Amino acid sequence: MIQDPQKKYRPFAPVALTDRHWPDRVVTAPPVWLSTDLRDGNQALLEPMDGARKKMLFDLLCRIGFKEIEVGFPSASQTEFDFIRHLITAGRVPADVTISALTPARPELIRRTVAALRGARRAIVHVYVAIAPVFRSLVFGRTRTEMIEMAVAATCAIREEIAGAGDTEWVLEYSPETFSAAELDFSREICDAVVDAWAPGANEKVIINLPATVEMATPNVFADQVEWMHRNLRRRSDMILSVHPHNDRGTAVAAAELAMAAGAQRVEGCLFGHGERTGNVDLVTLALNLYTQGVHPRLDLSRIDEVARTVEHCTRLPVAPRHPYAGDLVFTAFSGSHQDAIKKGFAAQTSGAFWDVPYLPVDPADVGRSYDAVIRLNGQSGKGGVSYILERDHGFVLPRRLQIELSHLVKAHTDARGGEMKSADLWALFCATYLTNGDIACLHHELYDAEGGQGVRLSLQVAGQRVERQGIGNGPLDAAMAALGVPVRLVHYEEHALGRESGAEAAAFVELEWADQGAPCFGVGVSRNIVTASYVALMRGLDRLAAAHGRRWRVDDGGHLRISEDGVAKVS
Ligand code: KIV
Ligand code: ZN
Repeated sequence: MIQDPQKKYRPFAPVALTDRHWPDRVVTAPPVWLSTDLRDGNQALLEPMDGARKKMLFDLLCRIGFKEIEVGFPSASQTEFDFIRHLITAGRVPADVTISALTPARPELIRRTVAALRGARRAIVHVYVAIAPVFRSLVFGRTRTEMIEMAVAATCAIREEIAGAGDTEWVLEYSPETFSAAELDFSREICDAVVDAWAPGANEKVIINLPATVEMATPNVFADQVEWMHRNLRRRSDMILSVHPHNDRGTAVAAAELAMAAGAQRVEGCLFGHGERTGNVDLVTLALNLYTQGVHPRLDLSRIDEVARTVEHCTRLPVAPRHPYAGDLVFTAFSGSHQDAIKKGFAAQTSGAFWDVPYLPVDPADVGRSYDAVIRLNGQSGKGGVSYILERDHGFVLPRRLQIELSHLVKAHTDARGGEMKSADLWALFCATYLTNGDIACLHHELYDAEGGQGVRLSLQVAGQRVERQGIGNGPLDAAMAALGVPVRLVHYEEHALGRESGAEAAAFVELEWADQGAPCFGVGVSRNIVTASYVALMRGLDRLAAAHGRRWRVDDGGHLRISEDGVAKVS
């Protein structure tokens, strides 16, 4: 890079528009969409689409709901010519779809373009003449007047060609190519001259398409240019004002949005922003941006993955994982705080209410995405993500401190192994940690009414030894604690059904700590019988508590539970 770019590059001059309206306008209706995937998109591919791919993409565009589709540049290529003929002669163009073909402003090429479109129900002949100063002086060597004459001559040539070209409903589109780099008064002059030359009938409109052939300035400048044209074109009511933004500065979507607020009624672009260099404006993003403002774009993107995979096949270019709305990762939260907020948002969301889930500007379900990918686990994930996945995939609603405990285990696991932890891996970790018996198991329990509370008789297996214990307490769990007679305190207990059916199993969560040390940990039990579930949880919790201190449970000669230092010999 050079140190003084001001000597090499000119800043874009602002537009002299003092009372601009676009900043206060809100777009409340979708534009007319034109897909140029089969023309601008195709001409920018490393390997242009073959006939089969073009047909597949054309069908996709029709299914999505495009009513105007630029199908090619037939005067430039026989393949394009043949493709357009096929669409028309094979009756592949739906009755409500208008096809368009691009032509340079040369009579013989216009003739070929009209020949390609012949027989269509309705067709747009799209002619372009570049108008920026550098094109006038360097490329064409013509004055402004001569450029206008060229555009007018092309318009007249199209009129003549279509005169004998069947009963197609013909529409003229004129693009002052390089509009974004041209003087506004000249852009107006040449567009007005074209519309005059066409002399549209009472119900006829000419499409005046303003391209940011190269995106030259910030989107507000493009919006000013469009509003200036919208307000100054002489026969505005005879025109459909269209824009065709490219994305050289990465702001084509913003430019198109502001251009709509500035008076553009129609937008040309490509799915996922395909097209020359950095691409045409991305119509998927534009459409879904409207959708998330409560404006239906009248394009059906409810199966976005299918759209993305088809476009990838046809163009042989990937849709990036972070592509707005369509990328594989755009509905995924890895970070703990985001996962927490999303989980709470999902839980609070009620059907029929406004969408208010944090971090998700659109409901993934509306574009055909499942919630599966929304929360994924890696080393940055937290309790929200971990508990969300266990609840979603296995129905466990973990107590808050168990969520934290498990998320630390997940973090240790992913830190050690790197990468992502899948739902199946999380489940395996959860089962191994919380749902596996250790040294103590409750083989049988029997509750009875006792004087002063609830009585229980427990048959336990402790380190391979059977032992019978009995206790009385305020309830089944309290009675079991009394029966065990260990220096452990019950900190917390929770339970819930693992499904909605009447015979559903219950999950019980028991949080225990040493009476003199704190440092609690959890045990989890699952059973159709809620008391059994709580006792299983209690035994597993005791095991985990001992293991957390490098100890194991044993039974002494008197049948009492004791903990050993290393689980081998000594009974304390
Ligand atoms: O980008 C452009 O200027 C074009 C025109 C032909 C409309 O593609
Ligand atoms: Zn273009």
